Amino acid sequence: MQAKKGFLLFLTVTLWNGVTLYKSYSGYEVLKIGPVTESVLSEFSDLQHDARFDFWSRPRLGSDNFVMVSSGNAPYLASALRSLQLDFSTYINDVGPLVTKEIEEHEFLKATKKRQPKAVTFDRFMEFNEIQDYMDEVNAAYPNLTTIVDLETTFLGKKIRGLRLSNSPGKRLVIMDCALHAREWMAPPVCLKTITELLDNYESNKELLDLVDWLVIPIANPDGYVYSFSTDRFWRKNRKIDLSSPCFGVDPNRNYDFHWGGENVSDPCSLTYPGTGPFSEKESLAVGGQLLANSGNIAIYLAIHSYGELILFPWGYTTELPPNAPELGATGNEAAAAVFAHRGMEYTTGTSAGLLYLQFGAADDFAMGMANVPYSYTWELPGGGTGGFNPPASEIIPVVTETWDGIVSMVRKAAEN
Ligand code: ARG
Ligand code: ZN
Repeated sequence: MQAKKGFLLFLTVTLWNGVTLYKSYSGYEVLKIGPVTESVLSEFSDLQHDARFDFWSRPRLGSDNFVMVSSGNAPYLASALRSLQLDFSTYINDVGPLVTKEIEEHEFLKATKKRQPKAVTFDRFMEFNEIQDYMDEVNAAYPNLTTIVDLETTFLGKKIRGLRLSNSPGKRLVIMDCALHAREWMAPPVCLKTITELLDNYESNKELLDLVDWLVIPIANPDGYVYSFSTDRFWRKNRKIDLSSPCFGVDPNRNYDFHWGGENVSDPCSLTYPGTGPFSEKESLAVGGQLLANSGNIAIYLAIHSYGELILFPWGYTTELPPNAPELGATGNEAAAAVFAHRGMEYTTGTSAGLLYLQFGAADDFAMGMANVPYSYTWELPGGGTGGFNPPASEIIPVVTETWDGIVSMVRKAAEN
C-alpha cells in the first residue's frame, strides 16, 4: 500500500515537474576511475547496469572513466572498485551547482540568442519544439529538395520525424540519427549542420546530393530529449512507463532487434535497460523500420552520440570482426583525419566490442546485421565541460564544423562502393 501511494505521488510529481521541478543533483559526485585494464574490463563494465551508477561514457579500455553516483551510493561504488583493484578519485564533488549553472546558461541564451526563421542557431542548444519548427520551415522553403518523413509516435505522443533530402530519384540513402540518448545534447547540432550544409550551401554541396539521398533524424528520442531540458539533465533513456516498476524508460540503443538482451539487464531502473523485448520501443522501431524498408539501398548509417571521441563500427555484440572491417577501419580513420585537421581533435576508430565492451541490441549492429548496410558507424562526439558530459554551447560550432568534414569524408567513401 505504502509503495503504491509512493508511486502515485511520484507519478503526480513527475507529470507536474515538466514545469515545476528540476532534478537537483546536489549531493551527487563523479568519480574518475582508471585506467581500466583488460583483466577487469568485463567486471567493470557490468557495473554500468547497476541502476545506482551513472556511467558518463561507456566503459573503455586503457582510459579514465567517469561515473556519477549519489553520495548515499558512493560507498557501494567505492567498494566495488576496490575489489576490482581499480584506482579512483573524486573528480567532481557536487554535481548540483554545475547542473544549475548549465540550465541557467541555457535559459539566458534562449532569451538572448533568438533563432531566425528558416535558420538553426548554433549559439545554444535548440529545444525539441524549435527543431520541429525548423524542419517545417525548411520543408516549406525547399519543397523540391525536402520531404518530412513521419516515422513513429512516441509513448508521450510526440512525432519522431526525419527530413529526407533528395535532388533526383534513384539514389542510395544515407541515414543519420541524433539524440537517441536524450542527454547527448551535442548530437542534434550535428544533424542540423548536415541539413543546413546541404540546403543553405546547396551550390557548393550539390555534389553530395548528386551522390546520395539523405534521411536525417535530428531528435530520435523526443520524449527523453524534452525531459532532459525540462526536468533531468542526465536523462538518457526514453520515457516509457512500466506500471510494474518504479522506474521510467528504456535504453533505445539496447532495444534493436539484433542479439537483443544479451547483457541480461532485467532491472528497469538500469540506465541500459533494454526493454521487455526487441523493438518494444518506438524510438528504435522508428529508425529500425527505415533501415529495413531501405535495406540493400543504404550507403551508410550514422548514429550520432556523445561522448568519447570515438568512431565505432560493428560489432558491438561480439569481438569478431565483420568481413569488411578493413574498409570500415580505413574509412573511419580517414574521417578522423579530416576532423583532426581542424583543431587537433583526436578520435579513435575501432569496433564497439573492441574499444568498449559487449553491448547488445544497438542500432549500428542492427543496420549491418539485419539491414545489410555496408558502412555503419556510431560517432561518439567530443566531451567537454565538467567531466566531459556537458560541453558548453560555445563548443557547438567547433564540433559541428569538424564533424561535418568527417561525415562528408565517410559518405563520399561509402557512396563510391
Ligand atoms: N554510447 C553508445 C551506447 O552506449 C555506444 C554504442 C556503440 N555501438 C554498439 N553497438 N555498441 O549505446
Ligand atoms: Zn549515446
